[in-house]
Amino acid sequence: MKAGVPLSNAYRLINHGPVLLLSTRRRGRANVCAVSWVTPVDADLVAVVLSEENDSFRSVMETGEFVLNVPNRSLLRQVVGCGSVSGRECDKFRRFGLTPTRARRVRAPRVAECIGHLECRVLPGGARLARRHNLFIARVVAAAAERGLFTKRWMMRSPRARSLHHLGGNVFAVPDGRELR
Ligand SMILES: Cc1cc2nc3c(=O)[nH]c(=O)nc-3n(C[C@H](O)[C@H](O)[C@H](O)COP(=O)(O)O)c2cc1C
Repeated sequence: MKAGVPLSNAYRLINHGPVLLLSTRRRGRANVCAVSWVTPVDADLVAVVLSEENDSFRSVMETGEFVLNVPNRSLLRQVVGCGSVSGRECDKFRRFGLTPTRARRVRAPRVAECIGHLECRVLPGGARLARRHNLFIARVVAAAAERGLFTKRWMMRSPRARSLHHLGGNVFAVPDGRELR
């Protein structure tokens, strides 16, 4: 027996990929926000949905660049903070004790405390999709992960490699580290 799921919640059946921190730099100012509406659409392409009310939307529109940073479970407080406060109100890096560091291929910073990074550039013509659907499709131009935690895939046996998964509201899940084959 299955119970119906309201369409407003239907995406939660499949949208429990890791929550990420999206970092940007616009006119010299770095910002970071939480995102869970993210999915790979090819090996080196990602799709991200950003509300136009977010400062990060403006930054990505203006610069065409961002970094997707993978936080582990130890960064839950920072993820919730970066997902609740706008960069228009404060410097979130400072407020939540996060460190912006140089990325390799884009001007947007990496978040040093995160265990993985995808540096991304919005595809040419991407602004139209963003204006209509808030959707950015971007090419991954560089990627990095912490040594020992990722070799072709996350080594979830290490608690430090365990990502956070947003289930809705203020509830998150963490993988239990078992690998099934
Ligand atoms: C777990 C979580 C996931 C979120 N996912 C998204 C998302 O995918 N897209 C989005 O636009 N906002 C998302 N948000 C909300 C933004 O992070 C939030 O509005 C943030 O304050 C925007 O900051 P900014 O104005 O500095 O860009 C999420 C928030 C949380 C807590």
